Amino acid sequence: MVASEVLRQAFAERFGGEGHLYAAPGRVNLIGEHTDYNMGFVLPGAIDKGISVAIRLNGKKTYRVAALDFGEEVIFAADGQKLPQAWANYILGVVMEFHSRCFAVPGFDAVFAGDVPVGGGMSSSAALESAFAFAINDLGNFGIACRELAEIGQAAEHKYAGVRCGIMDQFASLHGAKDQLIKLDCRSLEYELVPFHLPGYRVVLLDTKVKHSLASSEYNTRRAECEAGVKVLQKLNAQVHSLRDADLAMLEAARSQIDAATFTRCQYVIEENARVLNAVSHLKAGNTAAFGQEMYASHEGLSKLYNVSCAELDLLVDVAKECGVTGARMMGGGFGGCTINLVAEESFARFMQQARSDYTNKFGREPAVYEVIISEGARRLT
Ligand code: GLA
Repeated sequence: MVASEVLRQAFAERFGGEGHLYAAPGRVNLIGEHTDYNMGFVLPGAIDKGISVAIRLNGKKTYRVAALDFGEEVIFAADGQKLPQAWANYILGVVMEFHSRCFAVPGFDAVFAGDVPVGGGMSSSAALESAFAFAINDLGNFGIACRELAEIGQAAEHKYAGVRCGIMDQFASLHGAKDQLIKLDCRSLEYELVPFHLPGYRVVLLDTKVKHSLASSEYNTRRAECEAGVKVLQKLNAQVHSLRDADLAMLEAARSQIDAATFTRCQYVIEENARVLNAVSHLKAGNTAAFGQEMYASHEGLSKLYNVSCAELDLLVDVAKECGVTGARMMGGGFGGCTINLVAEESFARFMQQARSDYTNKFGREPAVYEVIISEGARRLT
């Protein structure tokens, strides 16, 4: 997390005096990808990297926000007019969502900065939404539960960033706990904290640094394909309202009515939901090796059936396998971003060396490496 002193100083320089400090983390997801918007299961955790905000009510009707990392500042009103700076729209979106729920957000001055790599698949945007949603709720004494704050962030992303994301990223950023993963049922939003403290293992992300320009349009396409699959399945099985309610036998029975691409998308989601539940059982039973195998199987499905991987991600997962890494897979929406790796201490050095050299040989540059620690969620610092 960004040092509080940096924000305090930046706030004082711009606005004079002191703001209240808040922070919200990015997230990793151990398993359960593209299952959230299909009302299924995910297993994310908040991380020790995120967005920090210094903020103070200003007694006006406008919001003035400076983004230290971009060297930009905007002033806006709650009129819903989109802003030219992409980052500012996430904050505008959050403010507008409070308003649409009849919570009038008082004007504020704010400065924020972060250490979540943008575009790395660790949800820097959810961290930003969650930091502001949490701060606004607290400063306005609105008393909104974190679960609804997550929905506010998600809606902001839908309406102001154009990505029809699920609830996982915002939920994890707001509900994270140290050394615990969140087994979230994305239909009921009930969740269970699952201890994830594995001495002798590291959670390491390898960033391909690929940013696919089609990522958000492909994301929305996958979502639409899943919805198309549900429509057909529902005709044959009235109880199916999402892929969460379907099983492989139902899908097989509908094969002739579903096009081949949609079939494989649905197959992946149904299988991935089962993998999350299996992975949680393995974790609870202390079977780290079996947990890791579920991660590899998840990648296989994402790459071959859901078709959201890319050559760079596939290579990094192959190298992990060769080096005996316990579990590895692409993480997040796909088409670039990071792989997540569960690495035993004794495999770490070899894996890093091999990943760097194989990746450089094939793609002409090194992947970035981030080690993460599962940490607490959004909070007030001062
Ligand atoms: C992005 C979205 C999430 C989720 C993942 C894929 O991170 O924001 O809601 O759908 O992709 O699992």
